Amino acid sequence: MAWKIPLFKTHWQQDNIDAVTKVITRGSYWATGPEIEEFEQELAKFNNQKYAVTFNSGTSALHAMYLAIGVKDKEVIVPSFTFVATANAVVAAGGIPIFAESEEETFGLDAEDVKKRITKNTKAIVALHYAGGVSKDIEKLQQLAKEHNLILLEDNAHSLGVKKNNQLCGTFGTAAALSFCQNKLITTGEGGAVITNDKLIYEKLKLLRSHGRVETGVDYFSHTGDNDYIDIGYNFRMPTMNAALGLSQLKHFQETMDLRIITGNYLNQHLKEITKLKIPQPYENSDHFYQMYTITLKDQATRDALQKHLEQKQIMSKVYYNPSHLKTFYTKNYNYKTGDLPKTEAIANKILTLPIYPGMPQKECEDIINAITEFFQ
Ligand SMILES: Cc1ncc(COP(=O)(O)O)c(C=O)c1O
Repeated sequence: MAWKIPLFKTHWQQDNIDAVTKVITRGSYWATGPEIEEFEQELAKFNNQKYAVTFNSGTSALHAMYLAIGVKDKEVIVPSFTFVATANAVVAAGGIPIFAESEEETFGLDAEDVKKRITKNTKAIVALHYAGGVSKDIEKLQQLAKEHNLILLEDNAHSLGVKKNNQLCGTFGTAAALSFCQNKLITTGEGGAVITNDKLIYEKLKLLRSHGRVETGVDYFSHTGDNDYIDIGYNFRMPTMNAALGLSQLKHFQETMDLRIITGNYLNQHLKEITKLKIPQPYENSDHFYQMYTITLKDQATRDALQKHLEQKQIMSKVYYNPSHLKTFYTKNYNYKTGDLPKTEAIANKILTLPIYPGMPQKECEDIINAITEFFQ
C-alpha cells in the first residue's frame, strides 16, 4: 500500500553519501576498514563508556552480549513488550528467556514484577528504554540486580543519547546493545553495537564477532600469516560502508534529535487537547527523542477503530509491540498463553504508534491531528 504518510522516513544528508562514497571509491577495505574502529571510538566517547564493539545488526549485538556474559541454561528476565529480538537472542545464546511485565508510564520493565521472577537460576535482567524515552524503573532494576548478584543489561536500541537524571540510557547496566536499523535515532541501514566499561566483556565480544579469531595486531586481510581461532564465533562484523555512514550520522546527532523533538512537541501540543488519548511525554528529569510516537487509547476496540480510520486516510500506524510471549515460538515451546502477563497484554491492546521522523512536514502533522480529531468527533 502506498501510504500518504508512512510510519517513518530515514533522515540523511550529503555527508552520508560522501562518507560511503569515500569507502567505496577507495576500492579496498569494504570490510574491516579503519572507519569501523573510528566509529567504535566515537560511539564509546558519545556514550561515556570505555568500549564499543560494532555488529552487523542490533540482534547480533544482543546475541553476542548474552554470549559474552554467559547465559547458557540460565534464566534471563526480559520484557515481553519489546521487539522479539530481545528474547530471541537469549534463546540463540542458549539461555532461557523469562518474560516480565512492563509498566504503563514509560513502557519499561516493571521492577516489582521482575523481583517476583528472580530464581536461583537467574543470571541477568534486560531493561528496555522504549521509543526514545527512558525506563522509569531503571534505578530500581539496578538495585535489584545488585541485591541478587545479577547482571543488568540494557536493550538500548531505541534511546541512544537519551538521558535520565543526567545519566545516559545504556550506561545503567554492565553492557548495552544498540541498533542502527533504518528507523532508529541514527542508522546505518542495518547495524548494531555493544557498549560497556568491562574489559573482559569487550574482549569476548571481539572474539565472538569474528569466528573466535585471535587478532595479531595487523588486520586479517593485511598480513601473510595464519591466525589462531580459540573459540566458536560468528561473522557478526559491520561492513566498513555502514561504519562510515554511522560516523557521519553521529556527527549530526543533535540536529537530527532537535528535528524529532520539534515534531514530537508539535504533535503533543495538539493531541493533548484530546482527552480520550494519552500522549508520549518525557518522563521527569528525562529526555524524549521520539524514536517512535506511541499514544495510548482507552481500550482495544477504540485503538483498532482508530487504526482503521487512519488507514482509510492512508496514514500508517502500527502496534509496537504486541507481546513477545504470545508469539507462536514462545506459546509453542515455552507454553506461554494469553493472561500470563496481564499488564503487558493490556498495554499492547491499547497503544498505537503514529508516524514520526526528523523533518516531518507540518502538513503531515496536521493531517494526523485532524484525522484523530475527526475520529473522536
Ligand atoms: C528493542 C529492540 N531490540 C532489538 C532490536 C533488533 O535490532 P536490529 O533490527 O538492528 O537487529 C530492535 C530493532 O528493531 C529493537 O527495536
